[in-house]
Amino acid sequence: MNQLESLRKYSIVVADSGDIDAIARWKPRDATTNPSLLLTATQDARYRPLVEDAFARGGGDISAIMEQLAVNFGREILRHVSGRVSTEADARLSFDTAATVEKARRLLARYEAAGISRERVLIKIASTWEGIAAARQLEREGIRCNMTLLFSFAQAVACAEAGVTLISPFVGRIYDWHRQARKVEDIPLADDPGVASVTRIYGYYKKLGYATQIMGASFRKPGQILALAGCDLLTIAPELLELLAKTQGEVQRKLSPEEARRADVERIALDEKSFCWMHNEDAMATEKLAEGIRRFDADARKLEQLVRSLA
Ligand code: E4P
Repeated sequence: MNQLESLRKYSIVVADSGDIDAIARWKPRDATTNPSLLLTATQDARYRPLVEDAFARGGGDISAIMEQLAVNFGREILRHVSGRVSTEADARLSFDTAATVEKARRLLARYEAAGISRERVLIKIASTWEGIAAARQLEREGIRCNMTLLFSFAQAVACAEAGVTLISPFVGRIYDWHRQARKVEDIPLADDPGVASVTRIYGYYKKLGYATQIMGASFRKPGQILALAGCDLLTIAPELLELLAKTQGEVQRKLSPEEARRADVERIALDEKSFCWMHNEDAMATEKLAEGIRRFDADARKLEQLVRSLA
């Protein structure tokens, strides 16, 4: 048995890609996209019909065209997965609760107009205080959310309290930050702060019985994925899926609800002030959240330019 097959016994495998052919090849249960992945995919001539269709339905309004493009990719991806697709709301709205709610409603309306039920869509929202507040409201309306750019324990606690469907704690970007800070080429798995972050969140959620699903994201090497075997879901780029599939061996389960329930965990209560304080105490998380929003926004603007030029 290869490591990918073995991993599937413990965690739901999700593809982290806008490459529809790669998704079709790896047959994940769900798939995730983000503005950077959509930017890459839109430059691929194979997906030009999706851009043309977005133009046709966007009525000359660039914001509507961009929404439709994201939904067109999501709709195509859903032809190849039995579960859900995650579509990112606009990173530029990360500090605006009302605008994020509106954006999510519009994306979902476009999915529903394409005949896709809301159960199959997760709206990805940056885990700022304002983004988490938007998700709380959207979940009440039956719109499911995937909280992204999640780096700190404070973000994880607030997302669970908001009752969101799913969080995506990032592993690789935490690892990148610490590698840079320590000026080292690599950090061994036993000391990997990205792996430790997801492990801690998993223990907290399972011990306290939160229903929010945990999907480890942003991986740099197969070892980080295998160190989280047992996490509810793991979203993995096609290159890493390939490496796992090429390696023979049994994967050992690392996270389990039974083990987590034995841990000594205290519930944390957070309001806006204590959330901001606790998040701000974590230099890595503060920098990575801010940078992540800037990067997703920059790639969304590049995508907008690209779409304009294709017009
Ligand atoms: C998934 O939801 C994330 O957008 C993705 O895993 C980020 O990965 P990166 O850190 O490699 O960009």
